[in-house]
Amino acid sequence: MSTPYGPDEIAALQEKAKRHLWLHFTRMSSYADADIPLIVRGEGPYVYDQHGKRYLDGLAGLFVSQIGHGRTEVAEAAARQASELAYFPLWSYAHPQAIELADRLANLAPGDLNRVFFTSSGSEAVESAWKLAKQYFRTTGEPARYKVLSRSIAYHGTSMGALAITGLPGIKEPFEPLPPGGVRVPNTNFYRAPAFVADDITAFGGWAADEIERAILREGPESVAAIFLEPCQNSGGCFPPPPGYFPRVREICDRYGVLLVSDEVICAFGRLGYYFGAERYHYQPDIITFAKGVTSGYAPLGGMLVTDRLMEPFIRGQQSLVQSDTHLEERHLEGPGATFLHGVTFAGHPVSCAVAMANLDVFEKENLLANVRSNEGAFRSTLEKLTDLPIVGEVRGDGYFYGIELVKDKSTRLTFDDDESERLLRGFLSQALFDAGLVCRADDRGDPVIQLSPPLVCTQEHFDEMEQILRSVLTEAWRRI
Ligand SMILES: Cc1ncc(COP(=O)(O)O)c(C=O)c1O
Repeated sequence: MSTPYGPDEIAALQEKAKRHLWLHFTRMSSYADADIPLIVRGEGPYVYDQHGKRYLDGLAGLFVSQIGHGRTEVAEAAARQASELAYFPLWSYAHPQAIELADRLANLAPGDLNRVFFTSSGSEAVESAWKLAKQYFRTTGEPARYKVLSRSIAYHGTSMGALAITGLPGIKEPFEPLPPGGVRVPNTNFYRAPAFVADDITAFGGWAADEIERAILREGPESVAAIFLEPCQNSGGCFPPPPGYFPRVREICDRYGVLLVSDEVICAFGRLGYYFGAERYHYQPDIITFAKGVTSGYAPLGGMLVTDRLMEPFIRGQQSLVQSDTHLEERHLEGPGATFLHGVTFAGHPVSCAVAMANLDVFEKENLLANVRSNEGAFRSTLEKLTDLPIVGEVRGDGYFYGIELVKDKSTRLTFDDDESERLLRGFLSQALFDAGLVCRADDRGDPVIQLSPPLVCTQEHFDEMEQILRSVLTEAWRRI
């Protein structure tokens, strides 16, 4: 494949990158004597570097590129919209693209999630959901409800509020003190289940859900606003919910008046074979947060879908409460609806909304959800071939979303210590997988895992390519330990 970049241009780009560009979550010093990886072009599930070398995009960029790269019809939708109306805010005004997209998303979403509040990213979506929960309860007479529950090792974003919800101590520590109210509950990593439920996944799920109830009771139900859960938790390496987990969580939330927020920044838009992960696992959230796949990355966009009930005080008036001898009663709505005191400049950007519509058109035209559902079994069994390697402890996930946990001793599930993990993941695996032509993620924020989340257009040939590259690189990694 030819490349438009000559040696001088490549050297100049490297120099400018090293001098001026700051990569996210990246140890910049590691590029002092090495080139920064450069991606210059994409087509379907593949991306290309400055030399024309091809890589299978096994992570869809960053869980984003659902329809794959290089779709001219989506790029043209962006160009058309930029010429017609490049920008106008959603502060007091609307534009047709935000209206049409809100209508389409509300129709796709389960239940009465009929209201869309746009943002420009996933962190902003999570931040917005927490702020909405707080203002909703304040408006409806329960101002003490501000706390949020979330699961251990779960990632929910990097802005201060979203970081307070995130369950990864290592990325929070430099920014403490964070906004108060973040409370951790166990995640659903059955591979690392406590011994007393390690043989029974349903009992494990029941225990994990009951821990949520215990946390609510410990904190005081009157102080808890919401729980944020991904349908299938990414961080830690894909933890699908055990059978019965979400129905039980829904019951607990209803019992204590806690809002269930389904953080679908990764899991929505086909990642699990459905528009929303909540559909796959049969639960009804009060809020869904989304971003990433809504545009497949052709422009940035995020948002939250909210139920009619949560919208009510913002339309029909604030609720007033009458205190009887024993309890609060007689809630009724009065006065004008409250204003949600929150917004960001680029939320629901017209170009991003037009892109999202074109992206969803591709989903429909190419039946991408059906593609995921009919191929996910083949994807799983292709990856499961890797379990014959001594370093592969478990392959887990659903849809087009998998984690491969790496272990030092398969029989005891012994994991690597910090030093081994550093040498294995940062010292070898990440670079070796990239050099071998696979973009994926070697992550040790929980136990060491490799994460895969390819574009939804992938088929058996791509599954085989991933398996073959992983097999040879993981075999070499084991030899080096
Ligand atoms: C579940 C979840 N929530 C929130 C976020 C934050 O999204 P963003 O990076 O767009 O701010 C992410 C990002 O990966 C995520 O995976």
